[in-house]
Amino acid sequence: MCGIVGYIGENKAQEVILSGLQKLEYRGYDSAGIALLENGEITVTRAQGKLEELKKKFTNTKSKASLGIGHTRWATHGRPSETNAHPHSAGRVSLIHNGIIENYLELKEELEKLGCEFKSETDTEIAAHLLNQEIKNGLEPFEALKATCKKVRGSYAFLAIDKENPDRILVAKNSTPIVIGFSENQKFIASDIPAILNYTKEVLILEDGDIAEIMLDSIKVENDGVLVTRKTQTINWDPVTAQKGGYKHFMLKEIYDQVEASVDTVRGRIKNSKVVFSNIDFSVEEAKSIDRIIMIACGTAWHACLVAKYYFETLAGIPCEVDYSSEFRYRDKPVSKNTLLIPVSQSGETLDTLAATESISKLVKTLAICNVLGSSLSRKVENVIYTQAGPEISVASTKAFTTQLEALYMFALFLGQERGILNKSTIHEKVNAVIKLPAAIAEALKDEEAIKKTAKLFYQSQDFFYIGRGICFPIALEGALKLKEISYIHAEGYPAGELKHGPLALIDEDVPVVVILQKSDVLFEKTLSNLKEVEARGGKIIAITDSPKIDLISSVASVVHSVPFISGDLSPILMTVPLQLLAYYIAVFNGTDVDLPRNLAKSVTVE
Ligand code: M6R
Repeated sequence: MCGIVGYIGENKAQEVILSGLQKLEYRGYDSAGIALLENGEITVTRAQGKLEELKKKFTNTKSKASLGIGHTRWATHGRPSETNAHPHSAGRVSLIHNGIIENYLELKEELEKLGCEFKSETDTEIAAHLLNQEIKNGLEPFEALKATCKKVRGSYAFLAIDKENPDRILVAKNSTPIVIGFSENQKFIASDIPAILNYTKEVLILEDGDIAEIMLDSIKVENDGVLVTRKTQTINWDPVTAQKGGYKHFMLKEIYDQVEASVDTVRGRIKNSKVVFSNIDFSVEEAKSIDRIIMIACGTAWHACLVAKYYFETLAGIPCEVDYSSEFRYRDKPVSKNTLLIPVSQSGETLDTLAATESISKLVKTLAICNVLGSSLSRKVENVIYTQAGPEISVASTKAFTTQLEALYMFALFLGQERGILNKSTIHEKVNAVIKLPAAIAEALKDEEAIKKTAKLFYQSQDFFYIGRGICFPIALEGALKLKEISYIHAEGYPAGELKHGPLALIDEDVPVVVILQKSDVLFEKTLSNLKEVEARGGKIIAITDSPKIDLISSVASVVHSVPFISGDLSPILMTVPLQLLAYYIAVFNGTDVDLPRNLAKSVTVE
């Protein structure tokens, strides 16, 4: 996950920026760079590898510049290399960027026609050229950045400097966080508060659509052409809280990280409305030859596989089985060379998943979904698709799960596309929905306070049922797992249609039933009838839904929490968010150790 730091002030920009970037190292990165503006000239210094490599380049050249921008990059769009590292420059400007520019290929074509030449493989360089062109066309830098953002589709946080205007840093934010810190005679800009906490506790947080011009004595922010004032806040975090990004627990931070993680997971994987996986070796012939998929995983990752089974069967037309790694490793399995094995693991170190993979990896094609670069799993398979969730510290998996779903969805689209099952317009429509995901997750998170109130109503219950149907049945399993592992309350996930085959006997007024109710017409009606069965036995219903039929749902449910609808395929991701928050607050009200629940470990490296 990339990091951003910018500085204007009385201290040496190089030192402030390097120390800020150091604070963001925990996010993971593979290259770094700084642009410093001094005496009307911009000097860009970049290095592949750790910050130490970048620092070595400054050994003999200590800059006195008082303005600069710096970046740590985690490669997803173009290889990790010095050339692809940020800042990128064009004419008089240098720019850094977190996020994805979706329409970068079409923009690149237009810019090439104007004679622009590109040095890197990144989408960021396009933004630098666009900005430079707008300035060349006569716009003031601030107006030029506004015009640039109008042309760019996707998510971004941009920081840009212009050698003709050495007194300012230009900033734009859309779906990717940016905070501005200030103290007397200094201004700081960062992707995360910990980067600037050593220097100031006074900050303001930019909102989506904000374009800002930061000068030593002023901060100008516009949104949609109108001047706006963003509220200033004082951050009183101790060092541990700072590590948690100001949240009380890593779990809550990681639930919020999902907005950015979902941007990062799709980053570089959509080009010209097509799905591309440039880092895997998977030819069209290979995609066409697969006649069966076997997915293996444990815990939360296993739930991601259950959702992905729908994706592979529906979008790619490939029969798919899902098994627990711990079961799969000990059974006979007839497979062929056209079978694709997909092990899914956040850590890439889960012993059962490693052993299950090894048990057939020589006989089949293998592709892992994993979050940790260089993990044992990544070394046991032919191909890896990395989720870009960043480090997940809390034992309860949150952002790893939603990014697994996103990565698996993208891979299913890729297979459907390469096998000729999905036509151009279907792919276009589906990738557009994926692009809307970060903003929709952010919207779903706005229900936090209401969910906290629901948790307060139900936290003393001793048993919960979670029910769902179709693609959201695995989400019921995941909701129940989240609750039991961090609150120690008994919770069971069931397909809604199965209740009457046994578990209904357990339902009474003391057993809350959490239902994941999707908009999809057929399943909506069927699930509603299942809820009537619960209501008739006095069960209290907590509904999570992306349906607009709130009145109808409220007629049976005690509480309804809504999430945005962007597509039926992506409903499982959005429905997960309120379930994570519900489990989190129930655990908090019960006073359990949320991040380190009893008896559990983050990485299960034993059998
Ligand atoms: O690292 P992995 O994804 O292989 O881990 C698998 C499970 O151990 C993990 O998902 C576990 O179920 C989580 N604690 C659930 O929140």
